Amino acid sequence: MTEKGDFLAIPDFSTEELHDVLRLAHRLKGGTDRSRPLEGQTLAMIFEKSSTRTRVSFEVGMYQLGGHALFLSSRDIQLGRGEPIEDTARVLSRYVDGIMIRTFAQQTVVDLAEHGSVPVINGLTDLVHPCQVMADVMTMQEAFGEEIEGRKVAWIGDGNNMANSWLNAAYRLGLEVRIACPAGYDPDAEIFERAKGSSKVAITRDPVEAAEGADVVTTDVWASMGQEEEAQERMRAFEGFQVNAGVMEAAAEGSIFLHCLPAHRGEEVTAEVFEGARSRVFDEAENRLHVQKAIMIRLMGGGR
Ligand code: CP
Ligand code: NVA
Repeated sequence: MTEKGDFLAIPDFSTEELHDVLRLAHRLKGGTDRSRPLEGQTLAMIFEKSSTRTRVSFEVGMYQLGGHALFLSSRDIQLGRGEPIEDTARVLSRYVDGIMIRTFAQQTVVDLAEHGSVPVINGLTDLVHPCQVMADVMTMQEAFGEEIEGRKVAWIGDGNNMANSWLNAAYRLGLEVRIACPAGYDPDAEIFERAKGSSKVAITRDPVEAAEGADVVTTDVWASMGQEEEAQERMRAFEGFQVNAGVMEAAAEGSIFLHCLPAHRGEEVTAEVFEGARSRVFDEAENRLHVQKAIMIRLMGGGR
């Protein structure tokens, strides 16, 4: 864990800390633990982009842990009118016990963590989406058991924030991650190289090759938030990178399909796969709540 205790990307936690968070998340999902370790605490949630799952799961999670969450849209706070992130960090740190932020540049999150004195959690940047992939790993464990080292994950589509976080999960948790993306849409080179140093990771241009024998097949929208103007160009570039029955056919027996949502049926995934028997997308969405509660307990709630 970083000195102050931030969660800006998956590698901020050691392998042991990640497994500890996951174990706690499963226990919380079990529903027997009704304690309120964050009683009296407040989480500020800064959103510079839209959200359904992240906003609701953090807000509900804080409430269930005995605390309170503040929704701060950049449209309404002074950050949106140019107040520096360093000042926002120092001011919010005088009022709240933790800050979750969804923004564009990873540097904004790094600056917020550096200048704030309370734990900061990354709720998505252009570079990574760590809370989501933690929920995805939790969903994998529900399907395959706690021991997931060596499990094969096929990422089909854009080498975006989700792909980068899967590579970070490979780096820390020993997953095999194969990315099938068109040329020009590769994941972050530094993140890929780091993962390559400790785990089996690969980039291919062939979705079926990536899916061959995979335990998890996963994808995301072709145009992420902030890329709306590139949508047409991306539709053309990603033709052939759809998760469909043919791709799922190549995956292992018992494989599951994941998608962080929101999904565009008929684009990155067919309705058939999305609604099919292997799809775990709504468990995955639910697991955001449990895993984020575990992250907040570890960062804000002390040991238990
Ligand atoms: N998956 C995810 O982060 O969803 P939202 O954009 O709705 O928060
Ligand atoms: N890659 C998507 C994920 C949304 C949860 C985006 O950044 O818009």
